[in-house]
Formats: sequence, structure tokens, C-alpha cells
Amino acid sequence: MHLSIKNLPALIIPACLLSLMACNQPSKTATTTMADSTTVALPADTGFKKTVDGKQTDYFTMKSKGGMQIAVTSYGAHLVGVLVPDKTGKLVSVALGFNDIDGYKKALSNYYGATIGRYGNRIAKGKFKLDGKEYTLATNNAPNSLHGGKKGFNDVVWDGKQIDSTTVQFTYLSKDMEEGYPGNLTSKVTYHVTDDNGIEISYEATTDKTTVVNLTNHSYFNLNGEGSGTILDHTAMIAADNFTPVDKTLIPTGKIVPVKGTPFDFTTAKTIGKDIDAKDEQISFGPGYDHNFALNKHDINTSIAKVVGDKSGIEMDIYTEEPGLQFYAGNFMDGSHLLRNGKKDDHRTAFAMETQHFPDAPNQPAFASTTLKPGQTYKTKTIYKFSVAK
Ligand code: BGC
Repeated sequence: MHLSIKNLPALIIPACLLSLMACNQPSKTATTTMADSTTVALPADTGFKKTVDGKQTDYFTMKSKGGMQIAVTSYGAHLVGVLVPDKTGKLVSVALGFNDIDGYKKALSNYYGATIGRYGNRIAKGKFKLDGKEYTLATNNAPNSLHGGKKGFNDVVWDGKQIDSTTVQFTYLSKDMEEGYPGNLTSKVTYHVTDDNGIEISYEATTDKTTVVNLTNHSYFNLNGEGSGTILDHTAMIAADNFTPVDKTLIPTGKIVPVKGTPFDFTTAKTIGKDIDAKDEQISFGPGYDHNFALNKHDINTSIAKVVGDKSGIEMDIYTEEPGLQFYAGNFMDGSHLLRNGKKDDHRTAFAMETQHFPDAPNQPAFASTTLKPGQTYKTKTIYKFSVAK
């Protein structure tokens, strides 16, 4: 179903009735919100089986033994639905999104659930050099290039196939000089749900000319349920003793500095809201958290971040092979889009944790290289694993 202003009353009236009913109940139920009390479901496939750029798009679902359900589409290899059980066993929709491709197209610059490529995060002034030759990208986030440029991997149609009930694979050939990047790059993104409610995302890429690559996923999570208010009372832990400070255009200065004594210290869990508006120059650039954390470990067996929804008790652990984590607290969300449940995507009502090589690495010799050469295979894996707080 396409959500339009016209069918809003149909969603709002039952929601109001539900919250009125909740107000008459004592204690626990009194705090029930619409997002908690509505039965959630993955979006219908009809909104994702379209023709985009002359290509047929597709839609797939996966289910884990632990009861998690997810949905993906070949349009931008987006993750379009994530349902996980809460402490009562009820499914909660924890990733923000829309019911059809049109919704994703309208919110393109937010990158809801998107696969990001060819280069996740920013490249300063849209320029970089490889083998002495300068390349120029679109500066779609003035004055910089962000998340692959004007038409990144999030806005193209991938080829998709369901491998089995727990695995879906997408491939995409990005042509030589597409969005200004050299080399024909063949990318593969595989979504797999693990028995213990993990979304495992594996990335692979090969090229026929030296290029740069940095793939990630840009899902926005609210562990209390999409549209259920801000994420400021979620608690977060990030196992990073250091982060990469930025200039006012959010390009790293090149320094890797300790988080200790700064609002960026998440080495022990604290609420996201605790220091998000602290008087701090780095915070003022976000404004809020929009920074790359230099992870202490990145070996796929160690949880590098844990976020807990204060109302649902749902926990998300992140495991990754990537050295960095962009923690983005939804500072640029402004309520201009209606989510699939009719709620607005208001300021800081979700967070993204994008595993990555560091932003602007092609221009920063001190950062781990993102260069990929012919004959090499780019290979990396990230897991978002859900459980319930004990
Ligand atoms: C960036 C933000 C940006 C957001 C959505 C994040 O990865 O760091 O600055 O606003 O993506 O585009």
C-alpha cells in the first residue's frame, strides 16, 4: 500500500483510539505507544516489484530460526524490513522504511536501509588521486561527495536471487567512470539471517582498473519500534578508544584522537542523549553524533557496539571486519517523510551504525587504504545481531 496524506486519517484514528485506551489502563499499558501496539508485518511485495530505469525490481524475505524476519529489494539492495521479537515475544519493526520504492526514492538523501557504494561516507571536495591521476566526483553533499555521488549503489537496480530461505544475494556491475570512479566494479552483497537473529551482510567486489571501494549498509534503527519517538534514551556502547574528528564539512582532519574525557566516550554504556548536545566543537559540527569511531577490534567474533532499546528491551550487537563505525544519530532527520506506519521521520528518531573504512581515506594517507586493484578481491562482513536484555 502506498502511504499518502489521503489515507493518513485511516491510520491516525485507530492510533488515537489505541492511545486513548492505553491511557485508561494502569501502569505498564499506559506507556504503550502506537508503534508498540500495532501488529507489525513486513511490507507487501507489490510496492517493490516495479520497473526502475527499464529494469524489473524484485523483493525477497528471509526468516531465522530465532523468529526474526527481514525483507530486501533489488532496488538499491535495500534492507526494507526488520522484525525482531521483544521481551514479550511480540515482533517489533526496528528499522525505518517505506512500503514501496517510491517512498525510498523520495527520501533518497536519507539512505534509509540502503546499500552504500561505491564509496561510503565523504570524499573531500569530490576529488582523489590514484596512480597520479586525479578523479572528480559529484559534490552531492556540498562541498563534498557523499555515499557514492548523485546516483549511488542505493539508487540502481541490482540483480537479486534467493539462495535459500535464509539467504539472498545481489550483484551489480558499476561501469568504468560511473559517478566518476575508475574501473568496471562488480559488487556482490549477500544478506543472510543466522539462527540466533543476526543479519549477516557480506560484501565482495572486483575491478578491472585500480579504484576505491567502501561498501556499507545505511539502515536506521529504533529498537523501541520505528516511529516510537527519539532514540535518546537508548543506551549505547561502542568499543572504540579513539575517533576521527572532522572539520565543519564533516571531513576528517586526519587525526585519530582518544574519546576519553569527550562526549564520544561510549566505551562504557551510556544513553545516546546524555552528551549529544554537549558544548563541544566536534558535537557542534554534527550537530550531534555523526562521526567515525576507530574500532579497537574488528574480527567478526567480537561485538564492537551494543545498543539497547529502553522500552522494548531489544538489544542490537554489531560485529564487523571493518576498522571504522560511523555513528549517525539522525541529526538531519526533519520529519519530512512519512514512514510506513504513518509516523514522521522526526529528528533523532533513529540511528545508523555504518561499518566502514574511514571517511575520505583516498585523501588520507594515515588511514587504512580503500584502494582495490585488478586481481584483488574486496571482501568484508558485518553482522547486526538482535536479542532481548535479560
Ligand atoms: C552521514 C550523515 C548523513 C547521513 C544521511 C551519514 O552516513 O555521515 O552526515 O546526513 O549519512 O545521508
